[in-house]
Amino acid sequence: MLITKYYQTDELSQAANELRLGELVAFPTETVYGLGAVATNEKAVKRVYLAKGRPSDNPLIVTVDSVEMAKKYILDLPAEANLLFEKFWPGSLTLIFKIKPGSLPSVVTGGLKTAAFRMPNNPVTRELIHLVGEPLVGPSANSSGKPSPTTAQHVMHDLEGRIAGIVDDGPAQVGVESTILDLSTATPTVLRPGAVTVEELESVLGCEINSEKKQVDINEVPKAPGMKYKHYAPDAQVVIVNENQWSDALEWAQKNTHQFGVMATENILTKISTKSHSIQLFSLGTDVTTATQKLFEGLRYFPEEMEYILVQGFPEKGVGAAYMNRLKKAAGNYFFEN
Ligand code: TXA
Ligand code: MG
Repeated sequence: MLITKYYQTDELSQAANELRLGELVAFPTETVYGLGAVATNEKAVKRVYLAKGRPSDNPLIVTVDSVEMAKKYILDLPAEANLLFEKFWPGSLTLIFKIKPGSLPSVVTGGLKTAAFRMPNNPVTRELIHLVGEPLVGPSANSSGKPSPTTAQHVMHDLEGRIAGIVDDGPAQVGVESTILDLSTATPTVLRPGAVTVEELESVLGCEINSEKKQVDINEVPKAPGMKYKHYAPDAQVVIVNENQWSDALEWAQKNTHQFGVMATENILTKISTKSHSIQLFSLGTDVTTATQKLFEGLRYFPEEMEYILVQGFPEKGVGAAYMNRLKKAAGNYFFEN
């Protein structure tokens, strides 16, 4: 067992040394914390799958500090890529490109001819990559299947003893993973919704793109390989509660279970009577943006013996689309209906 160390943001050269030696170090990004290893070091990348308990057919994101670093690996850059780099990099948009054969180990790409590239909007992590001098793989730094980590403490909880360290830069600002856009196909396709929305992408590209939202049969739209696995799920059953259903949902929960939790915004929480001791509350802040920041933290918050967690639903607009995508997975699509 390794001793897992917290690195402060002024200790990046130590963290970079560990990475260069083939160790694993988790790093902050604006979306969620990532689990870093040097992307060109096959042995180190294999250890990422082991540490997370991740299936080996699920490819990893290549995290870069600049467009130039990504270009070393990309085979013919599509014309629209430059528009996207300009507008969204650094930021919460991961782009999939065809890569130069053999330029990255096949453990990174899961044997695909493409790879996913991301330049995070976090200067600390870009500096870390700059010090290492090579891209880092960066899957979310959680145990596979658990909610993604939005603080360094979440990473410690899941991976202590299995990685060398965690660079601590406080809570992540966005709270859900990046939007993934596939540019290796004829029509650009969103494989995973995130803070960068389909509408924003279409307005920059000036054309329609494929996404789950637009299809009648959602099975027709390709998804990122990782999206097929069970995700984000606490032991309790998560139940999605839409607006105007709170009083019915609370009545139902009080009748049917001794122990349940509620995750909702302040305006809803203040209406819930705390006289009933069996209810535990977690605040999602004020609106859909703060709710997105706090969603994964909330899913990790409740004790194991909790039977149900009632969680506020939001309209699938803007960042609400990413929030609902993760929440539906955590709930196995279980909506409260009366
Ligand atoms: O915000 C994020 O993207 C975070 C932070 C840490 O950067 N990272 C992240 O990584 O969410 P991960 O590994 O948890 O999710 C990456 C997703 C997986 O669903 C994987 O299947 C997909 O990206 N992916 C990776 N390479 C791909 C490829 N070549 N084609 C299609 N999907 C790919
Ligand atoms: Mg993940």
